[in-house]
Amino acid sequence: MTDYWNRRFAAEGMIWGSEPSPSAAAARALFGDAGVRSVLVPGAGYGRNTKALSSVFKTYGIELSPSALALAAEWDPDTVFIGGSALEPHLNEPVDAVYCYDVLHLFLAAERQALMDSCLRQLCPRGLLYFTCFSDEDPNAGQGRILEPGTYEYKTGKYAHFFSEADLREHFAETEILDTGSFRETLGGPGGGSHDYLLRYIVARKR
Ligand SMILES: C[S@@+](CC[C@H](N)C(=O)[O-])C[C@H]1O[C@@H](n2cnc3c(N)ncnc32)[C@H](O)[C@@H]1O
Repeated sequence: MTDYWNRRFAAEGMIWGSEPSPSAAAARALFGDAGVRSVLVPGAGYGRNTKALSSVFKTYGIELSPSALALAAEWDPDTVFIGGSALEPHLNEPVDAVYCYDVLHLFLAAERQALMDSCLRQLCPRGLLYFTCFSDEDPNAGQGRILEPGTYEYKTGKYAHFFSEADLREHFAETEILDTGSFRETLGGPGGGSHDYLLRYIVARKR
């Protein structure tokens, strides 16, 4: 997985452009209303979404790809980027909130659980979580070889987990779920062209 993302960031740079996801603005408003001061962004990429948060909150990004980290240091110098796997905890102090955009669906079941555990361990009691992920209503869901229930190799060598609402809720079963929903995101990039994705989001509070 590291090789795949690292090669892409090295070749394509800011793959999805510089505009943050609308979900980052939604998370920023929600976190602001809740008095959040610090945010963790696991799988932060090149900082497309951390930049929408770091102007308001103390923001930490964990990212595996050295190419993404190099871009992120330039694009969003206000975020503290940490090189390493988001499947393991890295912070010494817990944060008030976690924003995680399109990372949970990258993993098989055991690693998805590890990501959830790691995020919850680095979050303070009653801390907030805002996650997005692929929806099972996206056209890629069900395409290609099935690896696990809901997880498909939808392109050669590339797989993802496609979440139903019930499945997403199940991943957050140990939290207090505050809201869920779906949205369409159009991702363009510096090379031109764009692609629509159907995503789900979930907002939850650590018990
Ligand atoms: C679909 S991209 C999303 C990027 C970012 N969340 C954003 O909003 O632009 C997935 C990102 O997760 C990173 N990633 C994959 N596995 C990871 C892991 N185990 N730990 C940390 N980052 C990881 C990839 O390098 C890539 O930057």
